[in-house]
Amino acid sequence: MAEVFVETGRLVLRRFEAGDADLVTGLDSDPEVMRFLTGGRPTPREQVAATVLPRMIASYDRYDGYGIWAAEERASGAFAGWFHLRPPSEAPDGALEVLELGYRLRRAVWGRGYATEGSLALVATAFADPRVHRVIARTMAVNSASRRVMEKAGLRFARSYHESWTDPIPGAEHGEVEYALDRADLPTP
Ligand SMILES: CC(C)(COP(=O)(O)OP(=O)(O)OC[C@H]1O[C@@H](n2cnc3c(N)ncnc32)[C@H](O)[C@@H]1OP(=O)(O)O)[C@@H](O)C(=O)NCCC(=O)NCCS
Repeated sequence: MAEVFVETGRLVLRRFEAGDADLVTGLDSDPEVMRFLTGGRPTPREQVAATVLPRMIASYDRYDGYGIWAAEERASGAFAGWFHLRPPSEAPDGALEVLELGYRLRRAVWGRGYATEGSLALVATAFADPRVHRVIARTMAVNSASRRVMEKAGLRFARSYHESWTDPIPGAEHGEVEYALDRADLPTP
């Protein structure tokens, strides 16, 4: 039984394990899921098994318990997708002051509030750790659903910026956005 990180009303967020390659491959095979990630291109199973999943599993050690978790529906046990909460890629090794939230869910479960539910739980988990001062989330400017989830999770628009992609996907010309919530701005209970 994989280690559970967080439970919400409808979701269980558990650690990824070596046997999860088919679940991740299935998620990354849907062009709509991958639209704002790769322009719709699926991730081949070999790449999931050799690179993507091992990196997911290594995340817990690398980030002192933070990382990326498989989300399962509590009611059915079905795989719903994943959430991550870990330092942004540019953070120095060991730094946990800033954590980046992210999510990718199966199309079959979109529109049920799962991304918001998981994100709210992860934001609360982040700020329960006194080392964490800021939670951020990033997406393409044109990814309206993802931006809406960030807002509903309590993050606010912080900045827009442009990445220099070697192989830009449609919409990249509109740039990226970052949303953020600082500990100092948490609503008082
Ligand atoms: C982004 C994603 C995680 C949202 O998951 P979800 O569980 O459907 O999200 P929620 O139900 O919690 O909330 C979605 C919100 O976005 C809104 N929304 C959905 N599609 C939208 C669109 N095309 N334009 C504007 N708003 C949109 C919904 O109406 C809802 O807001 P509301 O509650 O105010 O009505 C899901 O669409 C997904 O996995 N997309 C593919 C992967 C991805 O893009 N991940 C983010 C990359 S940074």
